[in-house]
Amino acid sequence: MPAPIVIVGAGIIGISTAYKIAEINPYARIVIVSKDFPDTGLLSPYYTSSKAGAHFRPFPSKSETEFRDSKYTHATYQKFKQLAIEHPESSIKLMTGVDYLEFENPLYSSLGKGYTEVVEDFQIIPKSELPQNVKFGAKYKSFCVNPHAYMTFMLDSLKLRQKITLVRKEVYSLRQVSVLYPDSTIVNCTGNGLLYDGSHDSACYSIRGQTLLVRPPLDYLDEFESKTITVQMANGEWCFFIPRPLNGGIILGGTKNQYCYQDTPVAEETEHLIQNAKSRFPHLFDRKTGELDILRINVGFRPARNGGVRLEKEDLDTGTGKVSIVHCYGFGGSGVEMSWGAAEKTAELALSSSREAKL
Ligand SMILES: Cc1cc2nc3c(=O)[nH]c(=O)nc-3n(C[C@H](O)[C@H](O)[C@H](O)COP(=O)(O)OP(=O)(O)OC[C@H]3O[C@@H](n4cnc5c(N)ncnc54)[C@H](O)[C@@H]3O)c2cc1C
Ligand SMILES: *[C@@H]1O[C@H](CO)[C@@H](O)[C@H](O)[C@H]1NC(C)=O
Repeated sequence: MPAPIVIVGAGIIGISTAYKIAEINPYARIVIVSKDFPDTGLLSPYYTSSKAGAHFRPFPSKSETEFRDSKYTHATYQKFKQLAIEHPESSIKLMTGVDYLEFENPLYSSLGKGYTEVVEDFQIIPKSELPQNVKFGAKYKSFCVNPHAYMTFMLDSLKLRQKITLVRKEVYSLRQVSVLYPDSTIVNCTGNGLLYDGSHDSACYSIRGQTLLVRPPLDYLDEFESKTITVQMANGEWCFFIPRPLNGGIILGGTKNQYCYQDTPVAEETEHLIQNAKSRFPHLFDRKTGELDILRINVGFRPARNGGVRLEKEDLDTGTGKVSIVHCYGFGGSGVEMSWGAAEKTAELALSSSREAKL
């Protein structure tokens, strides 16, 4: 029997990685160890992936690191395009992505590196067609995802094609995992987790996001499901709406607070999100009562990292033996978009390392 590949974490990164490993090697022994899976994670703020909007929104890179990481989005774009056509039950839906900036930002207006390379049909919206206050607008072919439905779909199709082992468990360190699964290759897809691991990566930090899941007024349903709009406001705030395909409602957001660990909704933020949306997305509000029909308030923590994504193999000496770890974390606010590209590279590193272990 080959030594197992043990993936720690079952967010979108862990699940995509497991899927890719199975695709490359149908005989690989795959174990996923995670505190939460899609079924239990839906309401937990610590299971970030189900809190993502989620849409595919490229942006101009502010640094070389951002540009490097943006390359992981290429494979995802192609994969999503294929899934939208062949597997609409994956929840991936093709729609128009729209960016509006209510202030001048040369990175956008000069179409900075990373912004236009991946998406198809990129167009700058002529000034005469822009809403009031908007200084720059662009649109492109994009995809929206209902992350809960998508991860469930991925995990179910994976279970059908290959016998994998799912272990629902919170671990305290990867060292503990290496004791539970001697000789295994460990893949670290823990996002924000393992805070109490002695080897916690101090470059990691959270960006808290609060969003509202709303029920759209019925008469605008079709229109809503045709695009996702992101407005960047002059004061630095964000106002976006993201339809969640397969009857997932509409995500209206959202806040971005670094180093904030409040894990329940903040009432003032909710009120603020509503006020920001009132003038920008008036159709979302009931025509008679003027109210927003809120189904749920989501709180999540984007797993950000100074220095960007960490995707590399490391050989650790545990004292009792050597263990290979492939790290794949630090996706911040773009983990869905980078999921497939990151999974491809991680799967290859994990498979080559488990081959080495066998020799
Ligand atoms: C409001 C909001 C909106 C977003 N919108 C978008 C978007 O539109 N597009 C986009 O691309 N991205 C978006 N993101 C970002 C995206 O959600 C993340 O980048 C992505 O979910 C990260 O996935 P992950 O698998 O690394 O982490 P997670 O989903 O957090 O998964 C981590 C996994 O590790 C497990 N784990 C952690 N610690 C332990 C432990 N000690 N023991 C066992 N298991 C453990 C957890 O249970 C979980 O299964 C958004 C995020 C937020 C908060
Ligand atoms: C595994 O990932 C976490 C991020 O969730 C990080 O803090 C930790 O340092 C990684 N583990 C090791 C042994 O590097």
